[in-house]
Amino acid sequence: MTPAPHHAPSSVPPTAAHTGQPAPLSTPPSEARNRPSNPWWVDAVIYQVYPRSFADGNSDGMGDLPGVIAQVPYLQRLGVDALWLSPFYVSPQHDAGYDVADYRNVDPRFGTLADADELISTAHDAGLRIIVDLVPNHTSWDHEWFVEALAAEPGSPARNRYVFRPGTGDNGELPPNDWSSIFGGPAWTRTENPDGTPGEWYLHLFDTSQPDLNWENPEVHAEFESILRFWLDRGVDGFRVDVAHGMIKAEGLPPYAGFANMVKDAGDLPEFIDRENFVPPTPYFDQDGVHEIYREWNRVLAEYDHEPCLVAEAWVAPVFRLFRYVRAGEMHQAFNFAFLVSGFDAQRVTDAIQESLDEAAVVGATNTWVLSNHDTVRHVSRFGLADPTSYPEGIAAEDEQPDHVLGRRRARAAAMVELGLPGSAYLYQGDELGLPDHTTLADEHREDPTFHRTRNTEAPETGRDGCRVPMPWRAEAPGYGFAVGAAEASATPADPWLPQPEEYRALAADQQVDVAGSTFELYRELLTIRGELDLGTGAFEWSRFHDPAQGIVSFTVTTGGGKHLGSGEPIPTQTVLVLANMGASPTAIPEEYTAAVFSDDDALVNQQLAPDSAAWFMKQSAPEA
Ligand code: NOJ
Repeated sequence: MTPAPHHAPSSVPPTAAHTGQPAPLSTPPSEARNRPSNPWWVDAVIYQVYPRSFADGNSDGMGDLPGVIAQVPYLQRLGVDALWLSPFYVSPQHDAGYDVADYRNVDPRFGTLADADELISTAHDAGLRIIVDLVPNHTSWDHEWFVEALAAEPGSPARNRYVFRPGTGDNGELPPNDWSSIFGGPAWTRTENPDGTPGEWYLHLFDTSQPDLNWENPEVHAEFESILRFWLDRGVDGFRVDVAHGMIKAEGLPPYAGFANMVKDAGDLPEFIDRENFVPPTPYFDQDGVHEIYREWNRVLAEYDHEPCLVAEAWVAPVFRLFRYVRAGEMHQAFNFAFLVSGFDAQRVTDAIQESLDEAAVVGATNTWVLSNHDTVRHVSRFGLADPTSYPEGIAAEDEQPDHVLGRRRARAAAMVELGLPGSAYLYQGDELGLPDHTTLADEHREDPTFHRTRNTEAPETGRDGCRVPMPWRAEAPGYGFAVGAAEASATPADPWLPQPEEYRALAADQQVDVAGSTFELYRELLTIRGELDLGTGAFEWSRFHDPAQGIVSFTVTTGGGKHLGSGEPIPTQTVLVLANMGASPTAIPEEYTAAVFSDDDALVNQQLAPDSAAWFMKQSAPEA
């Protein structure tokens, strides 16, 4: 049979995505798909909203919660299951909100607590769950605890909520140890006593404005349990836990002259691992004590009957260390950064998938798959570099400029791998539009502390602003329609907080929604099929086409079988064969299938799959009698 591009199987019954009727939250998607015992997050597709850059509801140039509420229909149309919101709490914004001054309120830049409540209920009404960000490793220096700590005496209970230490050297003029901040520079800052004399030092693994909390102190544990309950009581469905591997530091704060890197530290896949005797190399990351915190939190979440989840952001390696965070009774999911950093390379992608599947099986957890987030150069840009496995810390005008046409083509193919894999998938806002980074942003616009803290050092970093550029909603509106409420208002909206590149015009949502062949419509189709066929809980096998040495990643996912719980009708077995060509030559495709979806209209050439392309081939078997 000759396949038709972008042709979904016709035999599957219509779902919410077709009828426009949201599934009520009391009926988890998995129940609708015949798996009532699965919690909702097992196979969910979760969309990351970066609030300051998603949608601007009040035209001040900064995204906000009313903007997110306005775009809920867009997200519903895309077909995701849940939203994860990066921090919107009260914050001086020295690290774009990952410096929290009040965990129980909304920063006025983003709206009010009432807006947060409205967003939760609007999303729930639309069948979308809400995950919020929790930042437990550090607070802002504006947090009332830290203000109190600075005013208090050394050794006081107020100081004991953080990591204060006397300095070394003859007069305490040297930091307590040699640790470096992940953002560059030392990880310690000296305080000033009330009389103006120099005082103790405090630890900050990130910016000076982000003092690390002391998780050896029971008061800190109690406070975060209370914060969890505050948001759970408001109805949130889970927490993404920032730096989940960071809260406990090795006894005695031993010296460590190395540097830790965000995200890419998860990329190391050593061939030989002595699991039993493994000692984390970094004394402030991946210490065993963090797991006790997650066992406590798991017990808190278990008191709620709407299946809330904990998602670990942990840049740990080897991969087996990551899966210790999702052992029974701890967290529920962990971002799969090994997959993210594997780039567009069949062997590396194969290794990341296989190792993740193996390790998930060891602990009985499900997998997650992710390609980009607010800390990484977007994969459209990474995949457009001469080496599509490279992982730059930002791209500046003077750096190699990616080929975004090629990068987008590869990104569409990679999305077919990501969304075909069983487990849960995380999308970063704009993935569905094929957005690249802003790779020529002028330095004067940069806000990321990594840029500012490293700019005069031997290892300057461009930073993460390029992937945080405000979303383009309407091609012909000012700021490409970032001010989503501005169409009705007479006033001209303020410029978006970061300038957008010219190429965002053609990629704006209004140029893609309902436009055949667009990246948005490709994602929508993949999400529809994924949901209808229950791919997220399917059985994975490498296919006979899988050949990483030739650049081919190919696997099958099989679902169905058995009888429908409601009607008792037999359920046909469905097999999807995912085929991605990351190599240099066209490759053979299967002969038998009932429908196919291709990553691009020109992906199929002479009945072969072109390089930098992917396809899903669907095949249905008759139900068992
Ligand atoms: C990880 C977050 O994703 C990143 O944006 C932030 O800067 C650091 N944690 C510090 O909170």
